[in-house]
Amino acid sequence: MKILAIDTSCDETSAAITDGVRVISTVVSSQVRYHKKFGGVVPFLAQRLHKERIDAVITLAMQRAKVSWSVINGVAVTYGPGLAPALQVGVGKAKELAENYQKPLYAIDHMAGHIASCWAQMGTKELSAISLPALAVLASGNHTEFVYIEGFGKFKVVGQTLDDALGEAYDKVGRMLGLGYPGGHLVAKLAQQGDASLYSLPIPMQHSRDFNVSYSGLKNAVRLLIESLQPLDQKKISDVAASFEYAAQKALLLKVEKVLGEYTVKSLLFAGGVAANVVLGRALRKIAKKEHLDFFKPNRRELCGDNAAMIGVAAFLGIEQGQRSVVPATLDRNPSLTLDESSFLG
Ligand code: KG4
Ligand code: ZN
Repeated sequence: MKILAIDTSCDETSAAITDGVRVISTVVSSQVRYHKKFGGVVPFLAQRLHKERIDAVITLAMQRAKVSWSVINGVAVTYGPGLAPALQVGVGKAKELAENYQKPLYAIDHMAGHIASCWAQMGTKELSAISLPALAVLASGNHTEFVYIEGFGKFKVVGQTLDDALGEAYDKVGRMLGLGYPGGHLVAKLAQQGDASLYSLPIPMQHSRDFNVSYSGLKNAVRLLIESLQPLDQKKISDVAASFEYAAQKALLLKVEKVLGEYTVKSLLFAGGVAANVVLGRALRKIAKKEHLDFFKPNRRELCGDNAAMIGVAAFLGIEQGQRSVVPATLDRNPSLTLDESSFLG
């Protein structure tokens, strides 16, 4: 089943062609260099850039997959969560294409897309059979959620961040350390060279009984630490990065273990932009091993950050479970969509 998928939820304009769980082509046009000077994503600038690029991105995805409209079985698009002006571009384009070419249209939750990235197969012939129920640890620039997956289409958010997302905390620490925006991956890189034991930072909510995490207190503790260490030098920067990474990840890992104590699952999944973090991936794999669970994360780095391939795979997995297409004229973007809301299995 060949799907043309589109994602314009934030600052990447992306289109992909998928066939089942296989990624045939994926194009991601990043706007990051335009938003950099503002220190974050500017919604209306994102919208303008999506509008300028969307047609070329879709054409390129189809060219690379060597497909024409005659073999496309459906169009899938992210309708939320995300930035309203940005989502609007992808949703509008998907509606137009579905109507013009008379193809079924599938409305996909961006976070269900991140979950589906664990099923997506890019550049490999192997198909992953993920045993359910599963627990997904989703960590991106806007979300940090623990999702209990009974079936693809039956999602329950069992815990989440009460304030900043993990990726957002990485980015904010990156900015405080003068690494620019988005600095999350640079903080992670510097943390590898640093000594995490030099500065002791609080591990947020480690004693709370719930399954939630919080990163704003840790971020403030890092700010105070940085102020006390002025002037900074390369060694101090790496040591702060390492101390932050240790505390931020420990907070998440403690809660993952807590959730696993309550929910019986067969697999542990790790997805979202932060899934590019090798250290955290390794720690989660270790927990999975200890708990005798299968562990999955996207098989390619490109599938961790925002991309449309995961949206195509989510549509396929959803259709397999009975997800229906939507009437194009009735589809609207939903910037604050939650996985609980977008679940379609009873
Ligand atoms: O999923 P994503 O591409 O976009 C959103 O939907 O938010 O996630 C991007 C986030 C950014 O905050 C980025 O700094 C973070 O993922 N990130 C990382 C790493 N690579 C990207 N955070 C920690 N370690 C990394 N290696
Ligand atoms: Zn995302």
